[in-house]
Amino acid sequence: MFRTLSLAHRGCQARSGLRASFKRQQASNRQLALAATANGALTAAGPKTSADYMAAEDAYGATRTRLTRCCAVPYAYAENYKPLPVVLNKGRGIFVWDVEGNRYMDWLSAYSAVNQGHSHPAIVSALVEQAQRISLTSRAFYSDGLGPFEEYITEYFGYDRVLPMNTGVEGGETAIKLARRWAYDVKGVPDGEATVVFCAGNFWGRTLAAVSSSTDPTCYRGFGPYMPGFEIIPYNDIGALTTLLEADKNIAAFMLEPIQGEAGVVVPDKGYLQAVRELCTEHNVLMIADEVQTGLCRTGKQLCCDWEGVKPDILILGKALSGGTYPVSAVLSSHEVMLTIKPGEHGSTYGGNPMACRVAMAALQVLKDENMAENATEMGQRLRDGLRAINAPVVELVRGKGLLNAIVVKEEGESDRAWQICLKMKEKGLLAKPTHGNIIRLAPPLCITADQVDEAVELMGSVLLEYK
Ligand SMILES: Cc1ncc(COP(=O)(O)O)c(C=O)c1O
Repeated sequence: MFRTLSLAHRGCQARSGLRASFKRQQASNRQLALAATANGALTAAGPKTSADYMAAEDAYGATRTRLTRCCAVPYAYAENYKPLPVVLNKGRGIFVWDVEGNRYMDWLSAYSAVNQGHSHPAIVSALVEQAQRISLTSRAFYSDGLGPFEEYITEYFGYDRVLPMNTGVEGGETAIKLARRWAYDVKGVPDGEATVVFCAGNFWGRTLAAVSSSTDPTCYRGFGPYMPGFEIIPYNDIGALTTLLEADKNIAAFMLEPIQGEAGVVVPDKGYLQAVRELCTEHNVLMIADEVQTGLCRTGKQLCCDWEGVKPDILILGKALSGGTYPVSAVLSSHEVMLTIKPGEHGSTYGGNPMACRVAMAALQVLKDENMAENATEMGQRLRDGLRAINAPVVELVRGKGLLNAIVVKEEGESDRAWQICLKMKEKGLLAKPTHGNIIRLAPPLCITADQVDEAVELMGSVLLEYK
């Protein structure tokens, strides 16, 4: 079978080793804090530079990144976040500016959260207007924000009901709780025996359930024990799904991304989503689509599943649901699935707060009013055509859909070529970020124009052609 979760696979560390490394970490943090202070404390008066801000994050943040030599401490490499060395303090549309006033084209869009463009005026005014009235009521009381939002978003996507949360990963957690409960209450799976199936290469966040379903050691290693009841099969493999569904009658749901974003913009074969839909229906298994990254016009349709005319049983949205202004996520489903959860069984202090509701409605409206799906389709094609025409020897492949794209860089010699390319592009005024080593994700805000795409292609070409 395809189960890949086992303690042996994950490995484990001795407690004493962890304690020693914690002590070393503390000592090193003190050193780093001193280095940042020496570099110029951010609380002191006077102008600050990008280096000051980067040093402070290295010193006080949870994750150390690469420090500049002037701090007189050795380089410390990123463990999960490894930001490009640029300190941003302003954004408008597709542009962002650093603290020195340099302007860049943003080709990441905060991992597809800023689909509508930075600081979109309609979204910002919804946020400000609501914050000035009332921002948070909790779900202990009703607000005049939630009902209209629920009506709006369910009609927008054609679902019966919605459960609002904050982050994408909470959306995933919510979807899995719903699926398990549905399996027990509706499908009749024996209590405690429900299985949820995921794909290798998936990414849906950093909670313990999310890392338990991950096949990326950077995500899961050292965080066990892991969540039981999860199975993992290869992505884009209908045979594997068929075999599993035939063998296990306790499967509650199959959760998948219609394109795997973090894995490197992995686009499945045409027909995959439709085949998944048919198999899930045939086996009375819920199809959960994680459209946190692919949704909201990013791939050229409102939802990526729309490309195959597929309607998942549970839909997870996040990121661009607020246009990058505020954490808002939502899970949409049917009466049958949603009403299995009773009062007190799930919730969140901030989930469905009036500010989130107003912001999300504004963000969704902008996508429609500004025809962002159509623009993503056209600009995405223009981008891929432009990049392929460059014919740069260093490029193995350009792939993607709409404005969710990737350049796969040939890895010869330097293992950090993609990173080096991103550094060079940054110097020329374009921000993009490698994902999984040799893959550069390209996902600009969806308001990008043809001239801006052409300018970016020229800029990227000038860097890519430096590599023979
Ligand atoms: C497909 C997908 N699902 C879920 C998440 C998690 O979202 P968040 O970081 O808001 O928790 C991400 C984040 O990148 C994602 O790409």
